[in-house]
Amino acid sequence: MRKVVITGASGLLGRALVREFQEQSKFTVIGTAFNRANTNLVKLDLLDFDSVSEFLVLHNPDFIIHAAAERRPDVCQNDPETTKALNIHATGNIACVASQIKSWMLYISTNYVFDGTLPPYTPNSATNPLNLYGESKLEGEKMIWQNVVSGGSLRLPILYGKVETLDESSVTQVAEAVVSRSEIEIDDWATRYPTYVDDVAYVCHQILEHRAQNPDFNGTYHWSGNQPMTKYHMAHTMAEVWGADVDHIIPGKHPPAGAPRPQNCQLDCSDLELLGIGKRTKFVEAIRIALASMNGIFNR
Ligand SMILES: NC(=O)c1ccc[n+]([C@@H]2O[C@H](COP(=O)([O-])OP(=O)(O)OC[C@H]3O[C@@H](n4cnc5c(N)ncnc54)[C@H](OP(=O)(O)O)[C@@H]3O)[C@@H](O)[C@H]2O)c1
Repeated sequence: MRKVVITGASGLLGRALVREFQEQSKFTVIGTAFNRANTNLVKLDLLDFDSVSEFLVLHNPDFIIHAAAERRPDVCQNDPETTKALNIHATGNIACVASQIKSWMLYISTNYVFDGTLPPYTPNSATNPLNLYGESKLEGEKMIWQNVVSGGSLRLPILYGKVETLDESSVTQVAEAVVSRSEIEIDDWATRYPTYVDDVAYVCHQILEHRAQNPDFNGTYHWSGNQPMTKYHMAHTMAEVWGADVDHIIPGKHPPAGAPRPQNCQLDCSDLELLGIGKRTKFVEAIRIALASMNGIFNR
């Protein structure tokens, strides 16, 4: 039995990771959370470095998937201190302990490490983050390579899945706008590749299995859905799924307000694909599953 510790296990991706690994008889899963810790998730403040170190030494996991982060670009921009503490320094601390206990660490990163001007991006493409979120995640990646003897970094684009509230993902925020009926402008400028967290969790599971068989497997990898969509396009697709009207939604043709966003950070995923790693659920199918537990038109 292999042991995997998942940080950020109460978050959108973390919950999918816990579900995925709990279904596997080969893995024992320990999920950690902070404000949303519960009977199934250990409360662990990642900013308390001594407690994190004690916890990891005690459990001595084979693998650590580090998914916890501040991932909202506008929040990052407005609170650089907390963002750097969590996304950079807490990552460095975990990486340092992972190295001591010889645990293989998979760091969850973002396509926002790129500036979006020259897609598609391979893992070796030049990085140039446009906002503090992207910068801090890139610095987090560097923390991995400064500390661990072996490990991985997995860059992902915009995520969606089974949400606790519609504002938990910027994809399901679009769904909220579709049902609200109030006139609203939605971004039709940036091309995104919405990626279903259950697919990402499956990919992480495949990566850990692959690593267990191949001790030389290390490095930076990309995973992404393959359907290019602006948020405006997502709204139209969702409206078709639920038979809703979108007359109240206006296409936004300029870069959105707030922290600067890249226009197209398409990720080249061929390195994982060549290893036979990958899963992609079609957007219409995954968004239906993701929102099935919500009330209203989503049940249609
Ligand atoms: N969401 C996206 O569209 C997207 C896109 C690309 C990459 N990513 C990356 O994917 C990863 C997961 O994102 P997500 O959307 O699942 O994030 P999320 O839903 O916002 O969850 C963030 C997680 O971090 C935990 N956390 C925050 N501060 C903490 C602290 N001081 N100590 C311990 N845990 C703390 C939260 O725990 P509590 O809530 O319990 O406090 C929560 O579990 C992140 O690394 C993010 O950068 C996300």
